[in-house]
Amino acid sequence: RIAGPSGLVIFGVTGDLSRKKLMPAVYDLANRGLLPPGFALVGFARRQWENEDFAQEVHDAVKEHARTPFREEVWQQLAEGCRFVQGDFDDDKAFEQLKSTIEDLDKARGTGGNFAFYLSVPPKFFPNVVQQLKKHGLSQGSGDSWRRAVIEKPFGHDLASAQQLNQIVHDVFPPNEVFRIDHYLGKETVQNILALRFANTMYEPIWNRSYVDHVQITMAEDIGIGGRAGYYDGIGAARDVIQNHLLQLLALTAMEEPGSFHPKALTAEKLKVLGAVVLPDDLGRYTVRGQYAHAWQGGEEVLGYLEEDGIDPRSKTDTYAAVKLEINNRRWAGVPFYLRTGKRLGRRVTEIAVVFKRAPYLPFESGATEELGENALVIRVQPDEGVTVRFGSKVPGTSTEVRDVTMDFAYGESFTESSPEAYERLILDVLLGDANLFPRHQEVELSWTILDPIEQYWDKHGKPAQYASGTWGPTEADEMLAQDGRSWRRP
Ligand code: BG6
Repeated sequence: RIAGPSGLVIFGVTGDLSRKKLMPAVYDLANRGLLPPGFALVGFARRQWENEDFAQEVHDAVKEHARTPFREEVWQQLAEGCRFVQGDFDDDKAFEQLKSTIEDLDKARGTGGNFAFYLSVPPKFFPNVVQQLKKHGLSQGSGDSWRRAVIEKPFGHDLASAQQLNQIVHDVFPPNEVFRIDHYLGKETVQNILALRFANTMYEPIWNRSYVDHVQITMAEDIGIGGRAGYYDGIGAARDVIQNHLLQLLALTAMEEPGSFHPKALTAEKLKVLGAVVLPDDLGRYTVRGQYAHAWQGGEEVLGYLEEDGIDPRSKTDTYAAVKLEINNRRWAGVPFYLRTGKRLGRRVTEIAVVFKRAPYLPFESGATEELGENALVIRVQPDEGVTVRFGSKVPGTSTEVRDVTMDFAYGESFTESSPEAYERLILDVLLGDANLFPRHQEVELSWTILDPIEQYWDKHGKPAQYASGTWGPTEADEMLAQDGRSWRRP
């Protein structure tokens, strides 16, 4: 799978995402031999840069953040295809210049008129950029050539705004040329969920309400909001990651087997399962939100959310969110899916834990199974990528005591191949026109349908609970599970 003649235009190229993820990913793809030799990288931003300044920026970003070793000859070839266009998003002259830059690149580098436009800009600029692309005849290639739009999240902040956004984008680009980034789908371990479930026989027979007690999906971060106050405040943890990453993880964990991995078949199954998600009747008891408070975390004194630079001290934005969802279908009816995420938690970890029911009868001596928990299969998404199975085993010796043990699969031990960075995989797929790892607009809208009532409830009721930075969130979250007779895992 090597990309054909093509180029990438990045809007918002001076931003953090571009420097830390996109530019290094392009280099890593080139270094792995997955880009055509004449590949072109065009930056578009307000900054007063010349082509050389832009190339230097890409160079520095690559040196700092690329995964693969720096190779001068690979870099030189990429650098020759770097161009910069200076301008505002409503600046007609700049878009005309972009057009002639693309035409020049077709001649100089053989890009064949195939270009992807990556909108790494705040969502309020999406309409401007796509409408300008249309107005200047950039949104459609001539002949066989393609033009694609790549959109970073957030795709709106509720259902209505997401629908509006989708309409604006689809007015310019046909739906199959729109690639929405959910970078979790670019992660190797997330793609492995479907391999684990559907390439094997031993999991599917027990992957249902007869055997599964509940599922816990955790995305914990130890960092705070960093310099992202402007983006984060008013958005919060649930909109930032539950609406997209966590609901995608839920969909992949719970969906039925698609007939094939064709994007249409995959989307159809994801839509079915997302459409079957139901919220608990009592949102007060089964949703929790929190805000991190000032504390010592890992030997460092950290500010509380309300003290962070740029945050309104009266802000009600959630930095922690936990929700209980159920799925109304034959496979999952009655099985709770508990989702939680938070900033400044105990450690950085994302995992999906499928927790099984206890054995119906334990023919052991009294006390022998006191330390036996529930069987569990844990998909370790990151950072320690792999899968763990937890089950009971007899403790060696003359007693019949049974205790939990684990069996581990670790990527690092089983494979010599290294996992590409999520953005590498996703950018390559955009250039190949492979839409499998990109949520379609209906999925995005359905996810908002799930989240909207929760956000509306939170808007009207109370405020986030405080939790000390470095802990596992507010005690209310523990109480939420305790009322169901369960507890959160401590990964
Ligand atoms: C982003 C969120 O989508 O994912 C960030 O906007 C979050 O708030 C990030 O920090 C986490 O990504 P990863 O790949 O480090 O888990």
